[in-house]
Amino acid sequence: MEDYRGISADVWQSLLDTALAVRKNAHAPYSNFQVGAALLTDEGEVIVGVNVENATFGATVCAERTAVQTAITMGFKKFKALCVVTHADHPVAPCGICRQVMAEFQPDLPILMANTKGDTLYVSLGELLPHQFGQSDFVD
Ligand code: THU
Repeated sequence: MEDYRGISADVWQSLLDTALAVRKNAHAPYSNFQVGAALLTDEGEVIVGVNVENATFGATVCAERTAVQTAITMGFKKFKALCVVTHADHPVAPCGICRQVMAEFQPDLPILMANTKGDTLYVSLGELLPHQFGQSDFVD
C-alpha cells in the first residue's frame, strides 16, 4: 500500500484487512459476489459493512451503503476513507447508488478498491461522481 490523500499506507492496509475479514459475513446467495467494506470515521472508528442480498433482488443492499447506514445509526457522520473488497479479477468501483449515498456525507471521500488477489486502486469519490447533486442545491 501507499499513502493516498493524507491517509497513511498503514491505515489503508488496516482498512483493507478489516474489509477482507468482514467480507466473509456477506449474504450473497444469489450473485455469489461477496463484498466487504470498511469505513474510517473522523473519530478513528472503523465501521464495517457487507452486501445483504434478498430473494426479491430489489431489496438488496450493497456493502458500502450498509457501512454508511450503520455509521449514521451509531452516531458517526464524518468520514475519512473507505475500502471496498471483492473477489473480482480487478478492483471494483462502488455502484452509482452507493456513490450518491456516500456523497451526502463526504463528497470527495478517498476510496481504496481492492480484490482478494491483492490488486488495489485508489480513487476519490469526486472522481467517481463529479457534478454532484446535494444539499446545497436545494432552494429556500
Ligand atoms: N455490490 C456491492 O455490495 N458493492 C458494490 O460496489 C458493487 C455491488 C453487491 C450488490 C450485490 O449483492 C452484488 O454485489 C452483485 O451486484
